[in-house]
Amino acid sequence: MAPQPTKEDKFSFGLWTVGWQARDMFGDATRPYLTGVEAVHKLSELGAYGLTFHDDDLIPPGGSSSARQKIIDEFTTALKETGMVVPMVTTNLFYDPVFKDGGFTSNDRSVRRYAMRKVMRNMDLAAELGAQIYVFWGGREGSEVDFAKDVRAALDRYREALDTLAQYSIDRGYGLRFAIEPKPNEPRGDILLPSIGHALAFINELEHSDMVGINPEVGHEHMASLNYTHGIAQALWAGKLFHIDLNGQKGPRFDQDLVFGHGDLLQAFSTVDLLENGAPGGGPAYDGPRHFDYKPPRTEDMDGVWESARANMELYLMLRDRARAFRADPEVQEALEAARVDELSQPTLNDGETYEQLLADSTAYEDYNLDTPRTQGYGFARLQRLAVQHLLGAR
Ligand code: GCO
Ligand code: MN
Ligand code: MN
Repeated sequence: MAPQPTKEDKFSFGLWTVGWQARDMFGDATRPYLTGVEAVHKLSELGAYGLTFHDDDLIPPGGSSSARQKIIDEFTTALKETGMVVPMVTTNLFYDPVFKDGGFTSNDRSVRRYAMRKVMRNMDLAAELGAQIYVFWGGREGSEVDFAKDVRAALDRYREALDTLAQYSIDRGYGLRFAIEPKPNEPRGDILLPSIGHALAFINELEHSDMVGINPEVGHEHMASLNYTHGIAQALWAGKLFHIDLNGQKGPRFDQDLVFGHGDLLQAFSTVDLLENGAPGGGPAYDGPRHFDYKPPRTEDMDGVWESARANMELYLMLRDRARAFRADPEVQEALEAARVDELSQPTLNDGETYEQLLADSTAYEDYNLDTPRTQGYGFARLQRLAVQHLLGAR
C-alpha cells in the first residue's frame, strides 16, 4: 500500500501547477481554468496542507477591485473550511509584456518602479493570508544580448529592489522572509542569479541579508547539470534553505517540471534523505513546506492532474520511508562507518592546534606513509549498492 499524505507532512502546491492549463510554446490549453477555491478543496482532500500562488494566478489581472475582493473572500472561506494554509506567496513579473526586459532589472526605470509596486500590493495580501515566505523568481531578469545588459548595474537594481521590499515588510510588521529562486535560463536566454551559488553570494550583499534565503528547484539545478542534493546541502550549511521547489528533470534540456522523482530518482532519494535525516545526529534538516512546483502532463484531463498531484506526495513519502529504513539498517550503518563518513566531521587540526604545530608534526608530512592512503579503498561503492537496494525495496 502506498503511504497516504496528511497535513502533518506539510505538502504544498503552487496554484499554477495543478492549475496549469497546459498551454505551451506549440499548442493551446488542453484543460479548463481552475479557481483557487477548487484547488484548495481538492488538494486538501488529497492530503496537502498548503496552496501557494502568484498574484495573477489567484486574481486574474485587469479586474475591478470589487471582483478582486470577492475572489479573496471566497478563497479565505475555502481556507477556513478546509484548514488549508498559504505558506508562501510570489509575484508574476514575467507574463505581462511590460516585463519583457525584466521587472527589477529592466533597462526601463518606469518598469522597475511598476514591478516594485506590483510586489508591494501582493505582499499586503500575502501578509493578510498569513504567509511566512515570499518567493522571488526572476524569470525575466536577464538577457539574450550580452551588450544590452550591464550586469553589475542590474545586480545593483536587484539589490535595491530587495532591500526596499525587505524594509517594507519590516516597517509593516509583515514578518515575511524572502526566498530567491535561481534558474539558469528560460524564458530568458540567460537569467541573473542562475544557480544556488550565485544566489547565495548575492544574498550576502543585501542590507537585510538575514531575512533573505533561497528557494532552490530540482529541475533548475539539473538544467545546469548541477547536483541538487549538494546545492541544498550548501544552502543548509549557510542557513539559507528557506523554501524548496520539488519536481523532476531529465538533465540539461528545457524546464520540464516533471513530477518529483520522475527525473533523477536516485538523486531524489538522496534529497529526501538529506531533508528528512540530515540534521546533525539524525532527524529532519529542513522543517519548511515540502512544496511541489511541477506541471501535470499536457496529455491529462483533470483526473490526470489530481493523479499527478498524488504522485508527488506519494513518491516523497515512499522515499522518506526508504530513507528511514536505509539509515536504520545495521549493515548500512556499518558501511557508513567503513566509508568513514563521520570522520569528515572531525576537525583537521587538533583542538587549539596551530599551523606551527602542524608544521612541527613530522607524521603529517615528512614521515607520513603515503602508501596506505594511496592504495586504500573508501567503500563508497558498497554504500551506493546498499542505497539502491533500499530504493528499490530489495532490502
Ligand atoms: C519556473 C519557476 C516558477 C517559479 C514560480 C514561483 O521555472 O517557471 O520555477 O514556477 O517557481 O514563479 O516563483
Ligand atoms: Mn521550473
Ligand atoms: Mn519553481
